[in-house]
Amino acid sequence: MSEFPYADRFAVHRALPETGEGRDDVLATLAAMAAAEDPTWETGQCSGTMYCGDHEHYEFLNEAFGHFSHVNSLQRDMCPSSTKFEAEIIAMTLDLLGASHVSASQPAGLVTSGGTGSIMHAVLAYRDARPDVSRPNIIKPETAHPAFAKAGHLFGVEVKVAPIDPATTQVDLDWVASHVDASTIALVGSACNYGYGTVDPISELGALALAHGVGLHVDACLGGFLLPFGRELGYDIPAFDYSVPGVTSISADTHKYGYALKGTSVVTFADQALRNAQYFYQTDWSGGKYCSPGIDGSRSGGLLAATWAAMVSLGKDGYRAYARDIFATAAAMIEAVGEHDALRVMGRPSFLFSITSDEFEIYHVNDFLRTRGWRLNGQQYPNAIHMAVTRPQTQPGVLERWRRDLADAVDYAQTKGFEPAQSGSIYGGVAGGSTSDVDAVVKFFMADMMDHQMSLP
Ligand SMILES: Cc1ncc(COP(=O)(O)O)c(C=O)c1O
Repeated sequence: MSEFPYADRFAVHRALPETGEGRDDVLATLAAMAAAEDPTWETGQCSGTMYCGDHEHYEFLNEAFGHFSHVNSLQRDMCPSSTKFEAEIIAMTLDLLGASHVSASQPAGLVTSGGTGSIMHAVLAYRDARPDVSRPNIIKPETAHPAFAKAGHLFGVEVKVAPIDPATTQVDLDWVASHVDASTIALVGSACNYGYGTVDPISELGALALAHGVGLHVDACLGGFLLPFGRELGYDIPAFDYSVPGVTSISADTHKYGYALKGTSVVTFADQALRNAQYFYQTDWSGGKYCSPGIDGSRSGGLLAATWAAMVSLGKDGYRAYARDIFATAAAMIEAVGEHDALRVMGRPSFLFSITSDEFEIYHVNDFLRTRGWRLNGQQYPNAIHMAVTRPQTQPGVLERWRRDLADAVDYAQTKGFEPAQSGSIYGGVAGGSTSDVDAVVKFFMADMMDHQMSLP
């Protein structure tokens, strides 16, 4: 698919149109684009990103959003509804993450704009809770999301990167233990990580955190709304929540397996004081006494309403039923991978699995799968491809297509060996080709996407 498929179909706006277009025309344009794009994931052949995939659910959320889409939830005197929605979203998330185990402090949370937002707020909270540390650092597994590096970069927190055990893909605990120092403010573990879908040894990290008197953030952006139900269903998933001593904060994305609209996540804290540490106040401003609960200023009342609506309408039964299908489908897809000696699953995953090969370049498998409409995510060190199983994969027929297409893809890859492949490892971009100046290419890719109207004739 071209990156600019609409250039010939719809007007390109380089400035505001002199006269506004009719609403019907605008809506028709939007509907045409959505109709062109939705089939890419409706087939169930796209990894992650469309977690619910149920148009009726999206319509329901859009209606909930519509009631408050014009509301700025920073102006709480005008919208006590936002106070209710946010408090209940946080309470329901804390409950799911085992906050009832916390007795020594008051658990709390914050609704943010996404996983990156939640991680950034957590890092900011750890930093601001320790003003005594002048050059703070956190220690994260190599597999933990780049959002930690982004937060470190923005907030002046050094990020020490702990290696993983290549066999399990879990963090090297000895490395972590030997790199904690007087300036360490927090450790990080993932439940699960984006790349391999594996869960770090959270209990051991918790023990280390307690021994050194530092925080432990569990990044459950992906797994927070799914793994608790997987555990209930009997899948072999270790405890990763507030039942684990030493866990001081957890991020969980409502806009992933929480099945809410894009643009929300929850960062929770075992102790309200840690959450409050990152509040921002400027009380001497001529515009008035300003304070905001997080990095954002104005926030959408609509997103809070839609997130609340998703959670309350699904309830534990709904989440459990979805989880049952997702875990069963993922297990069957992993079993299909196991039918090929040339393929190797990385570590012991559950709903998100990554495959590599020692016999050929795994991107050839990706290249072939793409010809059959699959969209997996490429990884590196080693080259691998992953599939995050979501509800669209649980539709009838998808598993059978996976088994058949994977077998054909392996046959194709056997003929190619380690020749260079087309697909590569750009996160979210599934870009092709290889380069010696990777940073420059990634930068070009970003700019090209953001400024696409300039690239058009
Ligand atoms: C484990 C994990 N953490 C954090 C994030 C960042 O989330 P977002 O893209 O919503 O900022 C992701 C995204 O996939 C993730 O998988």
